[in-house]
Amino acid sequence: MMQIEVNHLVKEYKRKRDPGTLLKALGSMFRPDYEIFRAVDDINLGIEKGEAVGYVGPNGSGKSTTIKMLSGVLTPTAGTIKIDGLEPRKNRMKINKRTGVVFGNRSVLWWDVPVMESYRVLQKLYEIPEKTFRDNLEEFIDLLDMERIIQVPERQLSLGQKMKCNIAAAFLHNPEIVYLDEPTIGLDSESKLKIRRFIQKMNEDRHTTFIVTSHDFQDIESLCQRIILINHGKIVIDDKIGAVRKNFTKKKQITFDLADNPWSKGKEFAIPDVRVLDVGETNLVLEYDVEKTDSMEIMNYVSASSDIQDVSINGQDIESIIREIVKKDNQGEV
Ligand SMILES: Nc1ncnc2c1ncn2[C@@H]1O[C@H](COP(=O)(O)OP(=O)(O)O)[C@@H](O)[C@H]1O
Ligand SMILES: [Mg+2]
Repeated sequence: MMQIEVNHLVKEYKRKRDPGTLLKALGSMFRPDYEIFRAVDDINLGIEKGEAVGYVGPNGSGKSTTIKMLSGVLTPTAGTIKIDGLEPRKNRMKINKRTGVVFGNRSVLWWDVPVMESYRVLQKLYEIPEKTFRDNLEEFIDLLDMERIIQVPERQLSLGQKMKCNIAAAFLHNPEIVYLDEPTIGLDSESKLKIRRFIQKMNEDRHTTFIVTSHDFQDIESLCQRIILINHGKIVIDDKIGAVRKNFTKKKQITFDLADNPWSKGKEFAIPDVRVLDVGETNLVLEYDVEKTDSMEIMNYVSASSDIQDVSINGQDIESIIREIVKKDNQGEV
């Protein structure tokens, strides 16, 4: 059995229709005009214990809505969710004890009491044994460098410090699954790095399952083995990051270091569909389409006219791959 099993999950929101004209607006004062908007549209997925999954997609694609349903905050319109066989909405207490949630734009801590006091309240709420609480706190303070900040009220903390405190809060009760919705949004790079390391460590040491949404593909790449891409509420891709990179890389860059570079002296680069990105006295940077040209052909051509001192090939980064897949999906081509 998968730890998380989602079948034909749908969430529809009722939204006020834009009345358009003033006359219509007046009319709708008496007869509000609603439309049904499908934010999550027939999603199926299975996640095993210990997996770290990146849940990505453009703004408004339905990521947060999915996370809210998985964590039991929202009721699905249709479909089923099973966490270890339990339906989140019907077993909220049990599910809450097994899961942790962090929303980048929302805090679980009290604004004007020291963070430590908030933690004590969480300890009572989740019935965390004193020893577990102490051990966890000690480890988290060390990993997230929170020694000085837990005696301070949240309102006096920086964004990065607040997020660290919220992340630690989500792990105090030893959850088996943690949902992170934009955990690094707006943070400085130092805090981002600390938070990433912390999550990696929880995943490795405790086999905590993670579902992470993030706009920052460095988060996704450093934390997740698997990526699920959602667009307009539907899953477009669900695969290992390496496989996505392999299957969807369209363009690569090849950089040469040449002893004598004839292309810097006006020679035309004569392979069609290869774009010269940069050319200097000794360097030559090309971009090619992997479906049209292969690197051997380019290397043979270059070495026929020049001495290759060094060569390196770079694939497309995952962010630009995802961007292109979304573009194609919007045009109905995936
Ligand atoms: N409470 C709500 N009422 C109406 N529409 C909503 C509500 N919450 C989200 N939506 C809409 O549902 C879509 C998906 O939102 P969300 O799940 O927050 O996307 P994401 O997290 O991927 O940016 C968006 O178009 C958003 O405007
Ligand atoms: Mg969101």
